[in-house]
Amino acid sequence: MANLTTEYMGLKLKNPIIVGASSLTANLQTIREIENSGASALVAKSLFEEQIQLERYQDELVRESVNERHAEMITVFPEMKDIGPNEHLYWLKKTKEIVKIPVIGSLNAVTKEIWFDYAQRMAETGIDGLELNFYSVPKDFSISGASIEEEQIQILKELTSKLTIPISVKLSSNYTNPLHVIKEMSKTGIAGLVIFNRFFQPDINIDTLQHSFPFNLSRPQDNRTTLRYTGLLSQEINTNICSSGGIFNASDVIKMILAGADAVQIVSVLYRHGISHINKILSDLEAWMDKKGFDSISDFQASMNRKNSKDPWAYTRAQYAKLLMKPHLLKKDPQDI
Ligand SMILES: Cc1cc2nc3c(=O)[nH]c(=O)nc-3n(C[C@H](O)[C@H](O)[C@H](O)COP(=O)(O)O)c2cc1C
Repeated sequence: MANLTTEYMGLKLKNPIIVGASSLTANLQTIREIENSGASALVAKSLFEEQIQLERYQDELVRESVNERHAEMITVFPEMKDIGPNEHLYWLKKTKEIVKIPVIGSLNAVTKEIWFDYAQRMAETGIDGLELNFYSVPKDFSISGASIEEEQIQILKELTSKLTIPISVKLSSNYTNPLHVIKEMSKTGIAGLVIFNRFFQPDINIDTLQHSFPFNLSRPQDNRTTLRYTGLLSQEINTNICSSGGIFNASDVIKMILAGADAVQIVSVLYRHGISHINKILSDLEAWMDKKGFDSISDFQASMNRKNSKDPWAYTRAQYAKLLMKPHLLKKDPQDI
């Protein structure tokens, strides 16, 4: 029987399947189900700066000043429970008591003060690691990408020097050069990188002429950007990589590991097929490893990243140009039909 153990953020995991931050990890019953279905770890639902600010300042004026972002966040993660930071910290402690698998906290802050204060408070709840969620939707035309990146790297440097628990960063793929910024981040002492987050995008209802915010879960085809960057990054950085976004079945997990992932995070598939789907992914992964004669994850991990692949151009622009010039090489994907 294949050995599925892996290591992520310095944590020894019994397999590579982690359940990502979502409402599924903010509910007593579902976190029990997550553990019983075989997940190796879970990331608790994020604590957002807006929750903290709202509790801190009850007066109406301050409410107004944070309302815009608060409203944005509620639409970004529609099922976000509007609880305060103290309840959130209590919830983290409770989660640690309820499950035996590692629990990773998740913080989504904006201001430096909140990053430092709450990262520390969350660490004190006994969680096994902390995932930092850099969420920056550009809306200010005057701020350069470089200055946002520099600020994020500074926050990481300070947090890794202050906290004693392992820290990971969950990133957007929307950097001009994700390879550069991720490499710089990996030098700050972080223990894990989650590539990539998926943000809810607004829509417009043309009948009511109102904005709408669909509960848009990932689709299987969505994992290809993640696969590309996993394959490009894993040859170059020493920080553990957790691939995420549109991972639906064992084949997706296997591809990510072949490209160099240490673990994966899943969310949408569990909303679509139920939490017990974790069992199926694990048994299919094990069956594939047995069939291929792989005894452990390390037997095939990163064997198809850019450096180790027989086709090192697969992840690059050269491949893109080749395929567009020779479209007969493009294969139809049954999922696209
Ligand atoms: C309902 C829902 C709630 C989510 N809440 C959070 C959250 O609180 N914090 C966070 O970092 N990501 C959150 N996410 C994003 C997921 O953790 C994950 O990064 C994203 O959905 C991509 O993985 P997937 O394709 O497997 O869904 C949420 C996603 C969904 C669908």
